[in-house]
Amino acid sequence: MSNINDRLISPIERQGDSALDLSLRPKTLREYIGQEKVKQNLEITIAAAKKRGEPIEHVLLYGAPGLGKTTLAHVIANEIGANIRVTSGPAIEKSGDLAAILTNLEAGDILFIDEIHRLPKAVEEILYPAMEDYSLDIIMGKGPSARTLRLDLPKFTIIGATTLASLLSAPLRDRFGVTHHLNFYETIDIEKIIKRSAGILNIEIDSDAGSEIASRSRHTPRIANRLLKRVRDYCEVKGDGRISLDGSLEAFKMLEVDKLGLDLIDRRILETIIHKFKGGPVGLNTLAAATGEEMETIENIYEPYLMQLGFLDRSPRGRIATVLGYQHLELEEPGTGKLI
Ligand SMILES: Nc1ncnc2c1ncn2[C@@H]1O[C@H](COP(=O)(O)OP(=O)(O)OP(=O)(O)O)[C@@H](O)[C@H]1O
Ligand SMILES: [Mg+2]
Repeated sequence: MSNINDRLISPIERQGDSALDLSLRPKTLREYIGQEKVKQNLEITIAAAKKRGEPIEHVLLYGAPGLGKTTLAHVIANEIGANIRVTSGPAIEKSGDLAAILTNLEAGDILFIDEIHRLPKAVEEILYPAMEDYSLDIIMGKGPSARTLRLDLPKFTIIGATTLASLLSAPLRDRFGVTHHLNFYETIDIEKIIKRSAGILNIEIDSDAGSEIASRSRHTPRIANRLLKRVRDYCEVKGDGRISLDGSLEAFKMLEVDKLGLDLIDRRILETIIHKFKGGPVGLNTLAAATGEEMETIENIYEPYLMQLGFLDRSPRGRIATVLGYQHLELEEPGTGKLI
């Protein structure tokens, strides 16, 4: 069974990404490519808060992995000129942990909570009054003699990040003044990101090669940067280091990433439905057994992108390969007798 974390085209952060991520992270809204609507709204939020001399409202950012939530949180802090403290839902285990963080904040600070949906319930409840009235309720003692001590906190801003807004409880979601959804990027924006990253990393790249990398990046900046680096490595070893169209095509052949960014397993899933099950419908458990992948992995990791491309459908009777799926694999659609 393949290790999903080793996939070159995984949107999830892999070992080796973080150093790259740091150097390639845009620092300002101007440098942050794409997501125009979100940027326009944030510009106004930031300008208005600056004018009033107040911290900005709490911001919730949600979107698929690798689309730039962490980057945007840092950009916001930078644009405001605020300090940013970084933590994450799973890192805050007890309410005391959160209390320690909150009481150390200074007015205007930003607290970035990554994976905020993973905050323990008891911790989340401490966060409500903190977000709403900048106060912290500390329970002293136990049982009937317990009493609550209310501490005032400086005015700060929480930026929360999560992959799905629906993972958050309604009371927590409601306490964010501003919520932004990051969408998958247009290919043209991914091309710009590749160009910018190549500039920072001193990589020479032809623009048609940039387009080839962009089309394989699954509309995700993290994947684009990773592929850029791998193609550069290839072109350095096999050529003079410059990324040309031919060089990038050879690299992708070796890396087994196809024109739309599908890897061997993506294709195997689609091919299995087509070859072994006549295009489907086939039940998820049968498909898992036939491909040697786990049901959960197929459902959560592989299928979403195949469905987004319109190559696979989920029906009540099982998974179906679509006409587009056949076309992509250059296979004959059953019943038509022709190669489409
Ligand atoms: N709008 C953008 N413009 C340029 N580069 C970007 C942009 N968004 C993201 N990137 C690049 O992609 C990398 C991954 O982004 P980031 O770590 O912010 O994603 P994320 O949404 O926080 O992912 P995760 O869900 O895994 O935490 C960044 O290091 C940055 O180099
Ligand atoms: Mg992140």
